Amino acid sequence: MAFALSRSVAEPGYLIARSPAELAWTRASKFGVGVWPRALPAVAARRFSEAARSRPIAVETTVDLASPQQARQAAAQMGDPLLAAFVCNDLRRLLPTFAAITGENEVVVRLHTIRDGMCEKLHADYVTLRMLCTYTGPGTQWVAPGDVVRENLRRIDVPVEEANASVLRHPGALRQARAGDVLVLKGEQWPGGTGAVHRSPPVGPSAPPRLLLRIDAKDRR
Ligand SMILES: [Fe+2]
Repeated sequence: MAFALSRSVAEPGYLIARSPAELAWTRASKFGVGVWPRALPAVAARRFSEAARSRPIAVETTVDLASPQQARQAAAQMGDPLLAAFVCNDLRRLLPTFAAITGENEVVVRLHTIRDGMCEKLHADYVTLRMLCTYTGPGTQWVAPGDVVRENLRRIDVPVEEANASVLRHPGALRQARAGDVLVLKGEQWPGGTGAVHRSPPVGPSAPPRLLLRIDAKDRR
């Protein structure tokens, strides 16, 4: 696969893509994180927010890329036809990108609302690769590999916030995806690599729910 990053794109220590095709460069890049920054259309952003607030959403399904109707069926569970069309269109672009990076054609798609902090401790996932997109609410936080003090991961001798701070080389090292951004995180099972360090964003008890799309290889969740 052709891989070429300009110096300015490479300097932050993670891959910044302008399209799903460029996001697939994560496979060949030395970086453990790829991000496709994008802003959702205003109407979709509003409807995602309304949908997440109105009812819990918990969709989980296995999708074989050879059977695209499975992605349509998963998206249809959004209820709202506009959102179903948006998610379906997203899956059409993101699933082949996931497959191009991992070589996996069977994936598990999970779309769910989250009302708590879930995994607020900085960690790396025990997977090959994980793709995330927060459709509404605060996005996943991550640390560029060069900013991680790896020996301080998994600390249990201090409170979580103190453990997290000790993982960062400097206070500004914690980055955050915005709603709509697509994030690709190499995991601990990525060949020869070390997993990308990240965490769920902290959310207060009265915060609006997040709606998170997660894509994993079927056998490595
Ligand atoms: Fe994680």
